[in-house]
Amino acid sequence: MAVNGETTHRHGGFRRTDFARLGIGERAVLDFSVNLNPLGPPSLIRDRWPQLISGIEDYPSVEGEGIAYYYQKKYGIEPDHFLAGNGSTEMIYLIPRALGIKKALVPVPSFHDYSRGSLLAGASVLYQPISQREDSFAIDIGEIMDRMRESDALWLGNPNNPTGNLHPKETILEICRRYPDKWIIVDEAFMPFVEKKNLFCVLDPDRPGNLLVLHSLTKFYALAGIRMGGVIASKEVIRTLRRFKEPWTVNGIAERIAPLLLECGEYEEKTLSLVRAERNRLFENIRRSGIVFPSIPSANFLLCQWRFTENLDDCLKEFLALGIYVRDCRNFPGLEKNWFRLAVKTPEENDRLLSAFSSFTARRKNG
Ligand SMILES: Cc1ncc(COP(=O)(O)O)c(C=O)c1O
Repeated sequence: MAVNGETTHRHGGFRRTDFARLGIGERAVLDFSVNLNPLGPPSLIRDRWPQLISGIEDYPSVEGEGIAYYYQKKYGIEPDHFLAGNGSTEMIYLIPRALGIKKALVPVPSFHDYSRGSLLAGASVLYQPISQREDSFAIDIGEIMDRMRESDALWLGNPNNPTGNLHPKETILEICRRYPDKWIIVDEAFMPFVEKKNLFCVLDPDRPGNLLVLHSLTKFYALAGIRMGGVIASKEVIRTLRRFKEPWTVNGIAERIAPLLLECGEYEEKTLSLVRAERNRLFENIRRSGIVFPSIPSANFLLCQWRFTENLDDCLKEFLALGIYVRDCRNFPGLEKNWFRLAVKTPEENDRLLSAFSSFTARRKNG
């Protein structure tokens, strides 16, 4: 069993450590390091909170039926094709364990838990670097197809966090067809921020039997503390996953909240238009300043490379001093050279980021 450096947590957001490391006094910050809906949770969750809290006394359903109900109504997924989890993270750890994955292929940089979940399940991991050509990151599907011969499962973020790469659904289905005896696990945690519905594997009624689609409600509805998500797959796969899953991992509040999210059409539309407009505005403004992007951002985050000095710490310090916290991405394999990630936030918050950015980039250029 591999329990080594590769299985330690590698998430961001260690503000206190960063303040201390960079020698800056702790202060309140605007957090651009976490990619959640900039509108915050739908207002109806706060309005209904007094009723929701009644859910704390009883055991919830064993398998999070309230979440399954949401997926049935929202995406037309029958409950026997769905398994709910305490966030999609629970599924990332359950899948390799339950399916007995031995060798997983993981394109990197990507969400660290794909490899951690595989390693903790006793699998070995093959890393496929996402090729960097000049300033762009491209996931070479030809190379992935070749390397699939050596593995029995592929993890694919769509869109990929943190690079933002998006894959056409046809490409994913082609991989599934080419390797019918291997598992293709596609993570659509950020897909609700993407407007092109034809990319959603979750909406495909003819999903192949070897395709598993991870989904999350924590990002699009800004409910990361409530933990809601799941996996969509064939009936056989769901039956197998159920046999390995711990009971009651979806709490009673989450289970009551999920059906309410079906009433949030206006909030969803507002989110999509806000994220689209602000993502484009951030991208255009920051790009003009000489910062580099590896790909056109597709969801609610932007990956960028600091090039004004040799060390990203200079940038982090400037931001922190102005009360802005961004995600240092140097702990992702392939992003060691001063890459950082920004979440798309509200227009006012993004204005603060842009003005901080232009003030210190101008100083760097002039000085
Ligand atoms: C790409 C990706 N997938 C899945 C997750 C897990 O999300 P959750 O467990 O909140 O559903 C995250 C969390 O940051 C993520 O970045």
